[in-house]
Amino acid sequence: MVAQAQRWVILKFGGTSVSRRNRWDTIGRLAAKRVAEDDARVLVVVSALSGVTNELLAISQGDDIGGRTRALVERHHGFCEELGLDPAGVLDGRLAALQALAGDPRAVARPLDWQADVLAQGELLSSTLGAAYLSAQGLDFGWCDARDWLDAVALPNQSAWATRLAVNCRREADAGFGARFAQQAAPMLLTQGFIARHADGGTAVLGRGGSDTSAACFGALLKAERVEIWTDVPGMFSANPREVPDARLLARLDYAEAQEIATTGAKVLHPRSIGPCRDAGVPMAILDTERPDLPGTRIDSSAATVPGVKAISRRDGVVLVSMESIGMWQQVGFLADIFERFRRHGLSVDLIGSSETNVTISLDPSENLVTSNVLEALAADLAEVCRVKVIVPCSAFTLVGRGMRSLLHRLSDIWATFGRERVHLVSQSSNDLNLTFVVDEADAEGLLPTLHAELIRSGAMPVRDAGVFGPSWREIAHGKPERARPWWVGKREALLERAAAGTPRYVYDLATVRERARVLTGTAAIDRGFFAIKANPHPAILRTIVNEGLGLECVSLGEIEHVFATLPELSPQRVLFTPSFAPRREYEAAFAKGITVTLDNIEALQRWPEVFRGRTLWLRLDLGHGEGHHAKVKTGGVAAKFGLPLAKVDAFLDAARVLDVRVSGLHAHLGSGIDDPQHWHGVYAHLAGLADSVGTVETIDIGGGLSVPYTPESAHFDVALWRAGLDEIKAAYPRYGLVVEPGRYLVAECGVLLLSVTQVVEKDGVRRIGADAGMNALMRPSIYDAYHGIHNLDRLDDTQSQTFDVVGPICESGDVLGFERALPAATAQGDVLLVADAGAYGMVMANTYNLRALPAEDIIE
Ligand code: LLP
Repeated sequence: MVAQAQRWVILKFGGTSVSRRNRWDTIGRLAAKRVAEDDARVLVVVSALSGVTNELLAISQGDDIGGRTRALVERHHGFCEELGLDPAGVLDGRLAALQALAGDPRAVARPLDWQADVLAQGELLSSTLGAAYLSAQGLDFGWCDARDWLDAVALPNQSAWATRLAVNCRREADAGFGARFAQQAAPMLLTQGFIARHADGGTAVLGRGGSDTSAACFGALLKAERVEIWTDVPGMFSANPREVPDARLLARLDYAEAQEIATTGAKVLHPRSIGPCRDAGVPMAILDTERPDLPGTRIDSSAATVPGVKAISRRDGVVLVSMESIGMWQQVGFLADIFERFRRHGLSVDLIGSSETNVTISLDPSENLVTSNVLEALAADLAEVCRVKVIVPCSAFTLVGRGMRSLLHRLSDIWATFGRERVHLVSQSSNDLNLTFVVDEADAEGLLPTLHAELIRSGAMPVRDAGVFGPSWREIAHGKPERARPWWVGKREALLERAAAGTPRYVYDLATVRERARVLTGTAAIDRGFFAIKANPHPAILRTIVNEGLGLECVSLGEIEHVFATLPELSPQRVLFTPSFAPRREYEAAFAKGITVTLDNIEALQRWPEVFRGRTLWLRLDLGHGEGHHAKVKTGGVAAKFGLPLAKVDAFLDAARVLDVRVSGLHAHLGSGIDDPQHWHGVYAHLAGLADSVGTVETIDIGGGLSVPYTPESAHFDVALWRAGLDEIKAAYPRYGLVVEPGRYLVAECGVLLLSVTQVVEKDGVRRIGADAGMNALMRPSIYDAYHGIHNLDRLDDTQSQTFDVVGPICESGDVLGFERALPAATAQGDVLLVADAGAYGMVMANTYNLRALPAEDIIE
């Protein structure tokens, strides 16, 4: 009987998904579900059991044919028993075929057709086992030989090897194909990936990753509803999750983006498999066999085209060949000549950069058989026409996404990060889908997480677009980041009351300040903690922090005077002065008060010797690099105005000696909003090494900069890891007093900004909520593209069903507090908005631009 439904869903399972009994149960369950729910017939395409193809490859190379064949027979017998099947009945025929190939006279010369026959055995065995198991479970499964349906096609210029062992398959079905295929009675069919019929009637194989391509070809030939690629990861990610736990699942991609990501990075889908589905308009999905309920990655042509970087990848082992033409400026045929030489050595070229006199190209190791012999021969050959330099090993970082060229302005931090390394080649694809940077492999280590974070921060990677981006790998593996309920949720009524007294208004919760202060005072490695009052100098906050045992760090005489006006009894020993380009009298005043002064240049010593003569001070250093949530808050590296460069340390010490100045502390604060808890370990190690050589140093100040989780997807700063790093390095250099001076960490989360909605307006499809203050009250979004949560305090329990831009009343287009924020659709004039985590660098940076009044401030105990 011919089954009714002619709609097909193709499911492909790789080696790890077919090597355990429970995985086959999953396969059976998923297939039956597709039949029931999609009213479709199912074709399951499987790979060989994991590791088997490697063994067959060794056999095909004549490597211990007998021993390996015996081991394979045993392995499959064992698995047959695990499946509760009788090996004799199920596998005898197949295993006999394998043994016959091992004993075949062709095994001596190993012709390509014999190799293909050998390689095909893995899939034939796994599919035979699977079909027997699934039938034994009562499922109506049939088995078919993929070679009866997939035909290998030879391409022009293909080597004999490729036409047998890395074949392409015909994708256009002849008229009767679908009907013939459907004649197979069982509603569910099992077949092999990787294998096809050669034109001579023998076996051909598709090469590595071939099972994905088999599934895609079946999908195209049968005009399937969908091709599902089942793997052991939840889909494609915005970066390799093993290196970047914050990488986001890519929920939806179009074929071109998926193709680019598969080619440059992700190994979950073979790049060759996308073409057949794209051409036939068959949607694809990448799904996780262990977690079948996760949504995975969907690839289809109806994915809305969202401009932005979707993924960043790193490929190591890249070979660069730089070719300098010898006095042949713009000579006709130069390129033809050199590329002909690459062809001769069987090398395909990946990236190209060129100038009048130099052409630099990269060879992708995954597409080329790049050995040192091949390279030497190539270099010798090229040397006839140009000066050759082979640069190895290199790493290529590729950003993939639609509209790369219109994103350049958002990539400034990415360029800046690469600016620290030596970039050999920048290449931008002509399809506007990728941008690649090639650096030395030695410089690439650890760069990917930084770059990924910068793409998100800058908005170049639009992770808040839920249509494109799913959860992060970290979230999938460990659940949503643990985030305590913010204090203000429980104080809603009190806050609404304060708002009724007038907005804009900052409100600070002192309990939160105390809690954060205790994290610092409870960190054993820290000898003294100071609060950088620039983050929030509200008197109640200063008193709270000082009562918790911390000191205060000031950057101006104004701050110093404010501190002593607020806390007249405070000992000057509990105050630091870390100015930047301050006038002379501020240093004089600080010394006069007995405060610890930090200096960061030689010029001040030289110009104002009488200010510094005989003093003890701390020296602020620039360790050569900056960190932080935005380029504008990185305070190290050549672009930053802060700190004495390391190259000038000796000169500073000489100048200090002349004035009898004693350097009792070394200081480095390299930036603000640093996520990596190990950062401070590195700063201390660096400074302690220098301190040893200075001799007079007692204290090491590793700055502030600890981050807080502003966005919903970010996790709390990992205090445990931070402490562990400090403990470790303090144990290595116990002789120095360790000082920290955070601002943001202590106060950001204690503060909210309350605003009132003025107007709600729709314009050209964009809905905007206007508030009675914007960048005048909170500058951070305008200056740093900073994210602050925005909530409608009057409608906190309503669903956030509509997206709005939240804007202020200032006469600047940059007056936007948040783009595309989900808020209650009913949000209306008079509602109170709460802008979260505004306790640091909020009120202090507010201004009266447009002559709007400053916000009010309140304390909540
Ligand atoms: N120490 C020194 C020498 C500093 O310059 C700063 C901050 C800190 C400590 C405290 O850094 P924190 O722990 O708060 O990251 N307006 C920017 C932040 C500027 C930070 C300036 N210096 C923002 O809103 O993100």
